[in-house]
Amino acid sequence: MSEQIYYLTTPIYYINDVPHLGHAYTTVAGDFLTRFRRLQGRDVHFLTGTDEHGQKVLRSAEAKGIAPKAWADQIVPRWKEVWDALDVAYDDFVRTTEERHEGPVQAFMSALHERDEIYQGTYEGLYCVGCEEFKQPDDLVDGKCPLHGTEPEVVKEENYFFRLSKYAQPLIDLYESEPSRLLPEARRNEVLGKLRQGLDDLSISRVSFDWGIPIPWDSKHVIYVWIDALLNYITAVGYDSEEETFERIWPASVQLVGKDILWFHAVIWPAMLMALELPLPETIFAHGFLQVGGEKMSKSKLTGISPHDLLDTFGSDGFRYYFMREISFGQDGNFSWESVVARYNSDLANDFGNLASRVLSMISKYLEGEIPSPPSEDELHPGDRELHDVQRKALEEMIDAVDAISPTEALKAAWASVRRANAYVEEVTPWALAKDEAQRRRLEVVLYNLADALRLLSLMTWPIVPKAATELWRRLGLEGQIQERELATDGRWGLLPAGARVETGAPLWPRIEDETS
Ligand code: MSP
Repeated sequence: MSEQIYYLTTPIYYINDVPHLGHAYTTVAGDFLTRFRRLQGRDVHFLTGTDEHGQKVLRSAEAKGIAPKAWADQIVPRWKEVWDALDVAYDDFVRTTEERHEGPVQAFMSALHERDEIYQGTYEGLYCVGCEEFKQPDDLVDGKCPLHGTEPEVVKEENYFFRLSKYAQPLIDLYESEPSRLLPEARRNEVLGKLRQGLDDLSISRVSFDWGIPIPWDSKHVIYVWIDALLNYITAVGYDSEEETFERIWPASVQLVGKDILWFHAVIWPAMLMALELPLPETIFAHGFLQVGGEKMSKSKLTGISPHDLLDTFGSDGFRYYFMREISFGQDGNFSWESVVARYNSDLANDFGNLASRVLSMISKYLEGEIPSPPSEDELHPGDRELHDVQRKALEEMIDAVDAISPTEALKAAWASVRRANAYVEEVTPWALAKDEAQRRRLEVVLYNLADALRLLSLMTWPIVPKAATELWRRLGLEGQIQERELATDGRWGLLPAGARVETGAPLWPRIEDETS
């Protein structure tokens, strides 16, 4: 049997507005993880998309005086454009207003109905449109939703309900017996704690507006936007439309979500799948929140920052590297302009960028730009072996970190080897060797070691800084595309072909002066 596809999903984003840094954070993490898996030779499917139904989107379209579908059609290209600018290489982009989604959602609902998982009742309670969620009084702070700072609306409606309550125990059993289904551990414990208090059935339809997918057997109801949205993860890979594709791709390997929407993903989503006896996602991973000045970032707090504000200065590589390296994946973290400048200058411009320019310019100056022949075993000094070892270890650590969904740890490992290579340059002082004709072969050996270290680094860092890694690969005179390579074979030492011609060029990451300081 062929190896299971690495299927990774991001949440699908509400299109009431354009993307902000928080949305980009989840998506970039997904892109890093999937690019790394691609380099490991895995078959990958990376899905993102937009969540277009519900009151939140309806109201923002109404406020602009346009029909919600027309609004969606107008704004979706702006989301795609940000993902392109960030070099996000998704395989598919699903919109919940597409037919391929709407039909299968109705089929799913009918199947639940036939199995008596749905019944009719009356809901009376509080609803936060910002969260698109019913709230209990003790979810509120001073009568307001803590996430949106608004008072929830009072709703009394005839609704259809999903028998969520009967899944509390099966979910507890699931997370207790298979802890890797829900990560990080602290979040799993929170979810388990709430599950142990029991679950209420869930209202899954609305009658007071019609921007949604109709309940197939009772079209005055539309399906609750969260139920509609969660189903994107299976409708986009062929549920109820292309059975073979569905069998091949589902279940997801990793579903990335922010901690604010963990309950939907860790409780409601698996319960829906259990109700139809469908396979469950292998891992749901909740990351933390980006904060600005210690506060959650949101447009309403006027701190919503567009990814373009950063892209213009730091480029997509700088953006991607900063967020994955600085804000530990899984925890909350503070974003500040100063810290982006600091990270960019120290890790990219100085550590990696300078290493690349120094090595390439020394090869061009001392060896006429030609890669020498690889050293034989007995030509290697202990320091050379150490450089190899550090890099081999860094690659192993990266693989373990990606397995553990820790982009931050993966980057720490890669940069340990960047630093080792810089220290090696200082230790072997090629400029001194170049002055002594008797040391010619030693000079070739150390520059070969460094050039090959750069080749490995361009492979290791392509998932996070694809633009610069690709350029470095080209400057090393290497042929083909990095994405056609595989870590298991190309990740070994000494594969840089002798005779290749290197090129020097502008800094990979020009230093940035911080105008704010
Ligand atoms: N449409 C729902 C998801 C449906 S998935 C079946 C939704 N959309 S959202 O646009 O509001 O948020 C999408 C993601 O962005 C969530 O994972 C959320 O955690 C993330 N972020 C929004 N603001 C964020 C920060 N300030 N920091 C980090 N991530 C944040 O929820």
